[in-house]
Amino acid sequence: MTAPSAFASVSALVRKETSMVYDEGKEYLVEARLTPLATARGLGLEQYVARLAFDADERRKVVDALTINETSWFRDHSPYQAFTDVMLPSLLEQRALTRRLRIWSAACSSGQEAYSIAMLLDQHLPAGWSHEIVATDISTAMLDRVRNGRYSQVEVNRGLPATSLVRYFTRVGREWEIAERLRERVRVQHLNLAAPYVGLGTFDVIWLRNVLIYFDAATKADILRRMLPMLAPDGYLLLGSSETTLDLPPDLAAAWQREQIGRVPAYRRAPAMSLTSTGA
Ligand SMILES: C[S@@+](CC[C@H](N)C(=O)[O-])C[C@H]1O[C@@H](n2cnc3c(N)ncnc32)[C@H](O)[C@@H]1O
Repeated sequence: MTAPSAFASVSALVRKETSMVYDEGKEYLVEARLTPLATARGLGLEQYVARLAFDADERRKVVDALTINETSWFRDHSPYQAFTDVMLPSLLEQRALTRRLRIWSAACSSGQEAYSIAMLLDQHLPAGWSHEIVATDISTAMLDRVRNGRYSQVEVNRGLPATSLVRYFTRVGREWEIAERLRERVRVQHLNLAAPYVGLGTFDVIWLRNVLIYFDAATKADILRRMLPMLAPDGYLLLGSSETTLDLPPDLAAAWQREQIGRVPAYRRAPAMSLTSTGA
């Protein structure tokens, strides 16, 4: 078992680097995920944890090992349905002059979310339109996976329709590689959601799904406050199915207007809200 001091030190490290909350009770997870890293260095778990104080490379590996990267193609289905049926037609009308869309997959994990969106845009965007999907995550290992665009058989079995597998993937050895033309559409960038969002521009749709659950209330509020100017005034924000704006401070909850689209709540910027910024 992890010594309490070693667990506290890993928990503080993860909190500092990612804002993710690793409370007591998660000792088993820390032990299971860090033991292979310690073993690879020929160290016991506690010796390894002590080393983290002065080894940035190992700290990065620890962050990679402790992020929860659970994802799948077209996860939960209904957000993608709402995107195709309602958001996209509305944006096509609103952007008729510029004919350009920008989408942000804001905690992209291994890329299934970004590439699911890329497939839908490939199918539904009229000729003459351009688009960019920006895929960001804190885990450098996950970002490498998005860049590689290769998935195992088990991964493609999770939510990817057979027709899309045939249309967009090529078999390479035991893996499936996503088409170059979709990969070209996805710009991969390292980003800590709890740090400033510099130089990203604004987006028409932000997918911020299944990541706020790992943060405390203050971090979640800070992220959603700083997300407001990142979204075009007529854009859409999508959260995970267990995430909501209901528990935010009242001014911030009011700044995000909830709009039910089919089975999914989408969030839109309330007009002309003035908010107190907490930085960044
Ligand atoms: C459970 S996955 C969600 C993936 C995808 N959005 C989905 O809904 O399927 C959560 C992702 O959030 C990332 N993450 C955790 N803390 C983060 C932070 N502070 N900044 C950016 N990404 C973070 C993790 O690395 C992980 O890939």
